[in-house]
Amino acid sequence: MFTLSRSSGLPETAAAPPGAGRALRAAVIGTGGIARGAHLPALRALAPDVEVDAAVDVSEESVREFCAANGVPHPYTDLARMLSERRPDLVVICTPPAVHREQTVAALRAGAWVLCEKPPCPSLEEFDAMCAQESEGGPYAAIVFQHRLGSGSRHVRRLLADGALGRPLVAHCQTTWYRDTAYFAAPWRGRWETEGGGPTMGHGIHQMDLFLDLLGPWSEVKAMAGRLVHDVETEDVSTALVRFENGALGTVVNSVLSPDEVSRVRIDCERATVEVTHLYGHSNADWRITPAPGVPEEEAASWREFGDDEPSSHLAQMRAFTDDVRAGRRPDTSGEGGRTTLELVAALYKSAFTDTTVLAGEIGPGDPFYPALHGGAPGWAPTKAQEVTV
Ligand SMILES: NC(=O)c1ccc[n+]([C@@H]2O[C@H](COP(=O)([O-])OP(=O)(O)OC[C@H]3O[C@@H](n4cnc5c(N)ncnc54)[C@H](O)[C@@H]3O)[C@@H](O)[C@H]2O)c1
Repeated sequence: MFTLSRSSGLPETAAAPPGAGRALRAAVIGTGGIARGAHLPALRALAPDVEVDAAVDVSEESVREFCAANGVPHPYTDLARMLSERRPDLVVICTPPAVHREQTVAALRAGAWVLCEKPPCPSLEEFDAMCAQESEGGPYAAIVFQHRLGSGSRHVRRLLADGALGRPLVAHCQTTWYRDTAYFAAPWRGRWETEGGGPTMGHGIHQMDLFLDLLGPWSEVKAMAGRLVHDVETEDVSTALVRFENGALGTVVNSVLSPDEVSRVRIDCERATVEVTHLYGHSNADWRITPAPGVPEEEAASWREFGDDEPSSHLAQMRAFTDDVRAGRRPDTSGEGGRTTLELVAALYKSAFTDTTVLAGEIGPGDPFYPALHGGAPGWAPTKAQEVTV
């Protein structure tokens, strides 16, 4: 087995997983809202197993303040320099999606494991380019899909996989959120190049990821998208019908136009309906399992035993990720495990913008929706005058 040497870029025999007998050295890339609100607290909760050694931001003021306020010893404004001088074991990427690919590739090349915020990157082509930098045994690049984590999704995934609830038949995936005009006043929002997409890519991707995680591979999608309220280049609402390989039929709604905000996944199986209703994170109390007539009450009661409550969160994902780093094991949301959700997003856009049914696996090199989620579609693709850069 070969991997790239961290110092020379030359092949060398696969190294042992990083951090044996010492703390994992972490670096935070991008020191804005999600880094401060979620990643740093998660990393610190894992001390002394993990130490936050460095941070990078294009804003010197932001990175200096972040480091000073949180006892992070090494602030940088240059990612390449940080990677070569600090040699982190892992990096968490908390920057806007337009730079996720280049930063993930740089970190993997430097030998660091990557936990990259959603949305992973603006196209399947870029996702594949990221994965091409991975080496067997690590380092790998995992995507932040924190709603797969936690005791609720773990318990329900097991019930579904074991067949306890019977065959999944009908399913719903709902991300109906509200974002006002002020939210879209930021010039990078609502644009393909800088935000990556509308609520399908930016907001609903979490629920769609949980949907696929519970139901397994999808096989076809028919979708619609609308730009109903906001002055944006992307959609502000999308809807889709999804067929799963297991035969189940599902609906998906992604909206930023919905005053009564909710995130929901509901699956009607032969023997029960299982449903989670939350907004930005779920715990055991947010799950409901309703048995079909005839299911023994004792059995239904056993389905409702979720065990110790572990909310879905960045901490839950960070813990799983660092366990994977130490074990030299591929994280669940890396590679195909992350790609399948981005592929559903790409297929939803292709179906909506071309008024066709899109099959799993059909968007690859040569397909206009492979390099860009808007696929160059008239009325949806940016015109030259609309393009902005980050
Ligand atoms: N998983 C979740 O629940 C969740 C929630 C919110 C945001 N996010 C995602 O996290 C990412 C960041 O969002 P945010 O709300 O923290 O944004 P933000 O604007 O608050 O922070 C981004 C930071 O990145 C810095 N930055 C920009 N370009 C950079 C570059 N090339 N190199 C280094 N630093 C750079 C900016 O200066 C800023 O400090 C986005 O992809 C967003 O979708 C995920």
